[in-house]
Amino acid sequence: MKKMMLPVAVAAVSAVMSQSAFAETWRMALGDAQGGTQYAMGEKFAQLIHEKTDGQVNVDLFPNGQLGSEQDTVSSASMDMLDLSVLAINNITPFSPTVGVLTLPYVITGHEDAKVLTQGEIGEELTENTIRDAGVRILSWAYSGCRVLSNSSKPVASPEDLRGLTIRVPRNEIMIASYQEWGVNPLPMAWSETFTALQQGVVDGQDNPYITINAMKFYEVQDYITDICYVFSLEPLIMSESKFQSLSPDMQELVLEAGREATAYSYDYLLDSEEAIKQTLVEEHGMQIIEPANGEQEWIDRATSIWPRFYDSIGGEERLEAALQALGRDL
Ligand code: MLT
Repeated sequence: MKKMMLPVAVAAVSAVMSQSAFAETWRMALGDAQGGTQYAMGEKFAQLIHEKTDGQVNVDLFPNGQLGSEQDTVSSASMDMLDLSVLAINNITPFSPTVGVLTLPYVITGHEDAKVLTQGEIGEELTENTIRDAGVRILSWAYSGCRVLSNSSKPVASPEDLRGLTIRVPRNEIMIASYQEWGVNPLPMAWSETFTALQQGVVDGQDNPYITINAMKFYEVQDYITDICYVFSLEPLIMSESKFQSLSPDMQELVLEAGREATAYSYDYLLDSEEAIKQTLVEEHGMQIIEPANGEQEWIDRATSIWPRFYDSIGGEERLEAALQALGRDL
């Protein structure tokens, strides 16, 4: 198997920007490599902040987990040791459990659901909760698409086919429970260790969106993709709340505005690029895409049976009910 060359593009954005004598530089951690939705949104935010502050603020991007695992970056930001981080929502849930409503399996079934929940009242409430629980503020959302299941061993169409496979999952109780309902004991592991674990055969598979599989070059170590959509990958940009509070009111407004604009940009980026990336994975990288058996019904029935177990952590059954209602569905 080919060895992956991880891109180490440090300070890719600020390098092209002119700096005034009083400019300050903020550091942004990114869990993913360059080339995916995290980087696209982070880069856009950096550009917007630079423009809106007339070059007074520059943002350096550190992709590929250079500043620590995604969960570590939440701790660093909450302690004001890091300004910004872009990471998957599932890696915020351990710090602010109500966010788990967005990772309950089959609640968000596509990009439109994702937009409704993140850009509406529920998104606002979760932003408040994250400030309270984790000391970080969600400024923007990157939309990466459905988490599909990849593996290196065999075509998987139904949960039974998972038997005998070791699957990596994030350290996230909801995702672990989903796999257990599908009949396997997954291996929780930091995102930053996943490529090597796949490469060395410590695990056979993992789940993440097409865009992420491509950006991380997982096609070098994975052959099959099962086209399920049990969780939609949302990747918020978070800012240290202490850092945010240290800014002037005008600067805070600029930061929030840049965040909203970067969110809109990320949504369009997903819609414009996902289909072509899927094709590239098949046509250029030889991956095989497998449709889930019986319209995914067995995956859905088993995974959604875990919902009641998480009512307490997400803040009550009524929070899930409100999310589903916002999506025009009933519990
Ligand atoms: C994970 O699987 O831990 C994350 O979803 C990966 C990511 O941030 O893209």
